[in-house]
Amino acid sequence: MRNRTNKRIFPDDFQWGVATSAFQLEGSPNADWSAWDPVLGDIPRITNHYALFREDLKLLKDLGVNSYRFSLEWSRIEPRPGVWDEEAIAHYQEIIDILHSYNIDPMVTLHHFTHPRWFLERTPWHRSASREKFLRYTEMMVSTLRNVRDWITFNEPYVILIGGYLDGCTPPGLRDVPRSLVALKNIFTCHGKAYDIIHHYVPDARVSIAHNMSVFAPWKKWNPLDRLLRNRANFFYNHSIINAFKTGVFVIKFPFMRPVEIEVPIKDKLDFFGVNYYTRIHLRFNPFKKMGVELRHLDIDGHGLTNLGWEIHPRGLAKVLRYASRLNMPLVITENGIATHDTEEKVKYMKRHVDVIERCLKDGLDVRGYYYWTLIDNYEWLQGLDARFGLYHVNFKTLKRTPTSAASYYSYLIQSRSSL
Ligand code: GAL
Repeated sequence: MRNRTNKRIFPDDFQWGVATSAFQLEGSPNADWSAWDPVLGDIPRITNHYALFREDLKLLKDLGVNSYRFSLEWSRIEPRPGVWDEEAIAHYQEIIDILHSYNIDPMVTLHHFTHPRWFLERTPWHRSASREKFLRYTEMMVSTLRNVRDWITFNEPYVILIGGYLDGCTPPGLRDVPRSLVALKNIFTCHGKAYDIIHHYVPDARVSIAHNMSVFAPWKKWNPLDRLLRNRANFFYNHSIINAFKTGVFVIKFPFMRPVEIEVPIKDKLDFFGVNYYTRIHLRFNPFKKMGVELRHLDIDGHGLTNLGWEIHPRGLAKVLRYASRLNMPLVITENGIATHDTEEKVKYMKRHVDVIERCLKDGLDVRGYYYWTLIDNYEWLQGLDARFGLYHVNFKTLKRTPTSAASYYSYLIQSRSSL
């Protein structure tokens, strides 16, 4: 799209993509999550993308994207410690090769929430041996897979820590603040070392994490405790990670606890910053909840709530991007999407967020890419099969994929706002 002065706003090399994760599409018999969620007992292959990947990649071509973010399922690649499944590695290489044949650049995520079962049982993230295991896997992948420039080491490391170590709703299911801090140190140390390993094998690589950023607001503006929670949440969730990439030190201030400082070798270990953005969260002080925090979603903008009850708040994307721009490096929206059965809502959500990016570009923010979450309906971690984030609808009985109007809208949007 051109603005009134007829100047192109989205650069020619803007990365228009979609994002997926392997486990959410294909499941895996050896993954920790398969044993964790009973829903998967009935549908272990989920969309059967592992077998149907060629057809699914064709959908990307039809969409007209120029980049595709997907993840490697570690539990397929290393089903037993130190035992590498050549077939699985060749499978992911074939995905990369097909993408190149379609002129689509791969962006590969090494870790998107799931682990091999043995990893969780023997060396979960709060054990120091976790580092050697993850880095061995990283080196194996980076030295073997060909023609990948864009790498994400970890998807949403804070979500791994909150779900697995504070809330206990995801593996390993702990509620243990001291262990969460050890796990934080191990995960981010791995990021720093993985950054160096990737650059060793791929000198022109572009490496980041995908960080989930949210906008926080007090439930009642007049309530100082709600405001305190907002400040703490913003500090922890949005600020501390950005600061740690600038300084090499995490400063963690949980509500009503003494601040903790953790040194981690990640200073400047980023080539761009990946932002996953979905929603705004209102916070309410409630002494009966963990750490006194209750999360709320309110429909303040009048755009409604998603299928998962999340507030639709497009302006928040500008806010988090401005915040992330403190890193002074390219920003990529590595995920943004909506769970809904109503495809018109999906179209509106996408348009509103891309409009916000356009304004950010006009304001001079260095945004390099947008990845819609997600290609086809998939398994959603805590909500099972009904979240419906896909541009393509999946019938989970027949596994048939059907385009929603959001798929054709995304194609149109890409064409109209770029020179592809
Ligand atoms: C992100 C996550 C994805 C997907 C999405 C929608 O936090 O990286 O795997 O589940 O949320 O909830």
